[in-house]
Amino acid sequence: MKQVNPLSTFKEGFLWGGALAANQSEGAYLEGGKGQSIIDILPVGEKRKHSLKDPNYAFEQTFDYYPSHQSIDFYHRYKEDIKLLAELGIKCLRTSISWSRIFPKGDELEPNEAGLKFYDALFDELLKYNIEPIVTINHFDTPLYLSQKYRGWENQQLITFYKRYCETLFKRYHKKVTYWITFNEINMILRNPFLAGGLVTNEKSVVFQAAHHQLVASAEVTKLAKHIDPTIQIGCMLAAGSVYPYTCNPKDIQAAVERSRDQYFFIDVQVNGTYPYFAQRYFEDHSIKLNRSKDELALLADYTVDFIAFSYYTSRLETVNEELRKNIIEGNAMASVRNPYLKDAGWGRQIDPLGFRITINEIYQRYQRPLFVVENGLGAKDERTGEHIHDKYRIDYFRSHIEQMSEAVKDGVDLIGYTTWGCIDLISAGTGEMSKRYGFIYVDLDDEGKGTRKRYKKDSFSWYQKVIETNGESL
Ligand code: BG6
Repeated sequence: MKQVNPLSTFKEGFLWGGALAANQSEGAYLEGGKGQSIIDILPVGEKRKHSLKDPNYAFEQTFDYYPSHQSIDFYHRYKEDIKLLAELGIKCLRTSISWSRIFPKGDELEPNEAGLKFYDALFDELLKYNIEPIVTINHFDTPLYLSQKYRGWENQQLITFYKRYCETLFKRYHKKVTYWITFNEINMILRNPFLAGGLVTNEKSVVFQAAHHQLVASAEVTKLAKHIDPTIQIGCMLAAGSVYPYTCNPKDIQAAVERSRDQYFFIDVQVNGTYPYFAQRYFEDHSIKLNRSKDELALLADYTVDFIAFSYYTSRLETVNEELRKNIIEGNAMASVRNPYLKDAGWGRQIDPLGFRITINEIYQRYQRPLFVVENGLGAKDERTGEHIHDKYRIDYFRSHIEQMSEAVKDGVDLIGYTTWGCIDLISAGTGEMSKRYGFIYVDLDDEGKGTRKRYKKDSFSWYQKVIETNGESL
């Protein structure tokens, strides 16, 4: 009989896993009847950053290389990949469904059966190895047509299209998938309106209106899910990271408080069922007028989420000191003042394991609802020598973060699971690069799309395998 250690930090059945997103791994961008999604017109490098700021740039140009078109070819290689992930020992895999595989343009009345069959096969393959699928419904890949014809989530009609998409998914997969996340990093719409909402403008009032539509859509489908199968668990998701004040100057503290409100604005709605108390003043100060009907507000109040999923890469720092504010690092689309106490990780990120514990506690204290860490990881350049990739830096990163996560659990936080970002190397969302690698599994592919796409286990593979095997005790 399996021995359960009563002193173990992580509860029995803790969901250790990995995370991917369809748009960054599947490739096969027009196969099986799939339509284009917004990600499919994004290039790599500086041009991608430009396109994210100004989608018209991407609409009007033709580029030499689009990384999502073939990506790591998960669409054709998922069996091989899942076999490796099963060997890694993961208990769950977070992935997303590509909306434009199911509704190629987004506004059709009937779904694309070939797309549905692909995810049936994918989930069956996972379940064959007892790996629980955790599914994000919309991860940065609104169908391109909805962006071009309807201006993305600015248009209220997207609620109807999204609802139809979700109804199709819940009815088809509810016996295979329990945990669903309605929108990846819902607060990302404030930083990257095109990626997160298919928006063609960065105008603040439009962005908040679009976010309102996503919130209503999320509540609508929570209602629907419970009707179809009450055992379905619906989660919201935020791009998290506590905001520190640079000094004890009260002005710095106020700056940090305000920045932090950005982060929690929408999650407050999804968890508490109402817009936060500071919303009204914020809207007035920024001349934002939202269309919100009584029915919509009632729906938001009645259908809150079951759990809170979040990503954590690093903390953020705020100050009113203009000199210090010049020392900005870009972060994961979430720019921050550079923290002199933290080490740089490259690509505008700093490493803050203790910040992970602080963030987990901050979220739990605010909401007291089960939490699920669905992204955490280190994007780094790996060197492959023959069959070997020695990625001690990644092991160090995960060890220090899992240590702090275990402290948070000891603090009393109710944590469902932990899925590391990009458990297999995939395309970076922010830059489109392949060289910003996150995985335990290396994929032979470069930033120009060259390579065999052969998979190799990195040193971190056997390390994480042991972590899972011991339920987090061997770090
Ligand atoms: C999160 C996203 O913001 O960060 C992922 O949900 C993304 O899609 C991840 O890949 C890491 O960011 P990047 O830009 O390094 O891929």
